[in-house]
Parts: sequence; C-alpha cells; structure tokens
Amino acid sequence: MSTSEPLNPEDEAVFAEINQTELQKNIPANAADQAAFVNALAISQHGNEAFARIAKIIPAELLGTRSLAELMARDTLPIPGPDDREGYSPTEWRYWGSGLLDYLKVLAQCERYGVTLEKVFDFGAASGRVLRHFAVQGPATEVWGSDFNIRHVRWLQEFLPNVTAIVNRESPGLPVEDHYFDVVTAFSVFTHIDAWESAWLAELRRVLRPGGLAYVTIHDEATWEELRQLKEQQTEQKSRLYRSLAAADVQFTTLVVQPLPAERLVYEFAKHGPYRAQVFHASSYVRRVWGQAFEVLEIIPRHHVHQSVVVMRKPSQ
Ligand SMILES: C[S@@+](CC[C@H](N)C(=O)[O-])C[C@H]1O[C@@H](n2cnc3c(N)ncnc32)[C@H](O)[C@@H]1O
Repeated sequence: MSTSEPLNPEDEAVFAEINQTELQKNIPANAADQAAFVNALAISQHGNEAFARIAKIIPAELLGTRSLAELMARDTLPIPGPDDREGYSPTEWRYWGSGLLDYLKVLAQCERYGVTLEKVFDFGAASGRVLRHFAVQGPATEVWGSDFNIRHVRWLQEFLPNVTAIVNRESPGLPVEDHYFDVVTAFSVFTHIDAWESAWLAELRRVLRPGGLAYVTIHDEATWEELRQLKEQQTEQKSRLYRSLAAADVQFTTLVVQPLPAERLVYEFAKHGPYRAQVFHASSYVRRVWGQAFEVLEIIPRHHVHQSVVVMRKPSQ
C-alpha cells in the first residue's frame, strides 16, 4: 500500500481533473485500449492500519449497527490500481473508505425518505468507487453503472461480477426501460457536464421509478464560499479546483470574493474530454430548473467533500 498521501487528501479525492491520462482525455480512443489492469489488493486483505484509518472517516451514526470490520471482510474484490481510480486517492484505504462513506450517505437518504432500494444505477460510475459497495454490501438486488470512459466499464465488467456495467455516449440515452430503478446516483458528474445537462436529467428521470430517489452532487454556493475562504486564508493554492478555475479565467480570483455570479456558471477548459468544464449551480437554479423534472427534497451543503448533494424524488405522476 502506498504511504504517500497528498497534501490535502480530500481535495485530491474529488478534483481529479488535472491528473488525467491521455486515454481519459480522448474517450473514443479508449475503446481500442486493451492495456492490462494492474489492480491493488482487496480491502479484506488490508490489516489493522487500514481499519483504523477508515474508522476515522466514517461517522458512527452512518454505520449504525453495521460492523466496519465485517464490511471490510466482505469485500474481497480487487481495488483498481491508482491509474484506474479516476484520480481518486492514491491510498487504497481512503479510496475504499470514501466510497463506503458515499454509499452509507445514500442509504441514509433512502431511509429518510422511505425509499426501498432494490435496483440502483450509478451514472458516471468510473471504476466503481461507490458502486462496489452496493454490489458487495447490499441491499440492492440489481446494481447498474455506466460511464462514457470505456476502460472504466471494462474494469467494472471484469472485476465487479454482480454489476451490470454499460457504456453510454456523451449524449443520452441509456439502454434501460422506463421506470426501472429505485435510486439513481451521480457523484461528480453534473459538475462537469456543460452541454446535455437537461437531457441527462430527463433521461435519469425516465429510468427512475415514480417515487424513486435521485442523489446528485453539484458545485454550488457552498463550494463557492469555500473557495472564497481559501483565498481569504491564503491557502487557495492547495486546492486543485481553485487553481484550475484561476487558470481558466483571469477574472475568477476577483469574482470569487463576491457571491456566486450566475445561477449556472460554466468554466470551460477544453473542447473535449471528461474534464473540459467545471460547472456551478446556484440552489435557486436547481430548485427552479431541475425542479421541473424532479421534486427537489433538499440540497445538503458540502455533503460530498466540497460538493453539495441534491436529493430529488421523481413525482408519482
Ligand atoms: C470525477 S469522476 C467521478 C467518478 C465516480 N462517480 C466517483 O464518484 O467515484 C467523473 C466520472 O464521470 C464520467 N462522466 C463524465 N461525463 C459523463 C457522461 N456524460 N456520461 C457518462 N459518464 C460521464 C467520467 O468519465 C468519470 O468517470
């Protein structure tokens, strides 16, 4: 296990955009990619040190009556190697633990809103950081994930045996019947979708059953405020997101001390690639525009590290 931890691991964990391989920059080209995967050991094979570190990042109230030791023992599937983690943590314990944390947070929202979880779909799942926990720990009986990065989908197909993994194109839709899933999730995906946002929301709504839950992360005012604080504390250079926005727009460092300047703000870095843009949504925009497709139940500030979580329900009719 690598012992080199980044300066600010949480920041590294979410804002992977700079650490992109050529494959990830060029999504169609990776259809031809057949390079072998070099995986890391399953978490079940990690020892007490990993347990102790993971225990520190999982709040007891989220674990409830579950035993962390049992959750770890149950997951005997390999962990993708660092090159196939979409830039998420270089340490296996943090990679696995961050996925577990998000998984438990989704379960907590299902419980809060009385949603029975049998069929779950993770849009933009990468190599299954969160999805693997649904596949291994339950309670879902059908676990689906998609990505437009074909190498990720190949990883899921090879190493997560209980998952239906599909490639989607940059534009919708999905080869899934209407009203199929109880829960759809999208972690750090709508933070990068510049075009096709409304179309993807409509597609996620289509595949969700009436009363089903959507759990989607965004950059919002809370993220913007955190960036402002970083500047105020002169620690902004530690943040990849801050650095990338400052590089994309010379006005950003002036704008960031003011309130979020638009309801939907897109910082465009390139014409192609999964990280060609960083997108910010004001909560007013989410409630007004996303609220046309879903009932927006709540927006939980910075519930996914720097990103906020939009919890939505598909109306019954
Ligand atoms: C920051 S990563 C997050 C990965 C994963 N959701 C997680 O939290 O570990 C964003 C992922 O979304 C994928 N992605 C971005 N836009 C997408 C789209 N339109 N369709 C499918 N996947 C997309 C990228 O390929 C990448 O795997």
